[in-house]
Amino acid sequence: MEQTLTIIKPDAVGRHLAGNIIARLEAEGFELLGMKMVYMSKQDAERFYNVHRERPFFNDLTMFMSSGPCIPIVMQRDNAIDKLREVMGATNPSEAAEGTIRKEYALDIEKNSIHGSDSPESAAIEIPFFFNGLEFCA
Ligand code: CMP
Repeated sequence: MEQTLTIIKPDAVGRHLAGNIIARLEAEGFELLGMKMVYMSKQDAERFYNVHRERPFFNDLTMFMSSGPCIPIVMQRDNAIDKLREVMGATNPSEAAEGTIRKEYALDIEKNSIHGSDSPESAAIEIPFFFNGLEFCA
């Protein structure tokens, strides 16, 4: 079993799509271990996306991620990290495969409805960013 972190982003929460996305993740075999709704400050979002600090979209991305509540979730299944990225689809919804979450729900490359850890190293940083050991059931 492998753990990963997903975030249902503010664009999806604001359009009342959280339930649909969670149902899809469970249907894909992900077991939810911990979940909360958080309203990140701009500084929180800047810390979370620190690896993108030098990218031209950093300011817009962190403004967007702090524009409303989001739902971070720790989940597990076999091959969770790669499977989540497959189910999410490409970052840009116009390039995402049919049937993926981003193809179905994302608005654009920034407001793309869902985040997923991109590697075990990222998951090991991203999970404790949102959850301490008492806040999810491994
Ligand atoms: P996510 O998987 O959360 O990881 C980084 C985020 O940055 C990404 O999803 C998008 O929301 C955003 N992003 C990546 N590339 C671009 C881009 N070229 N323009 C705007 N936002 C981007």
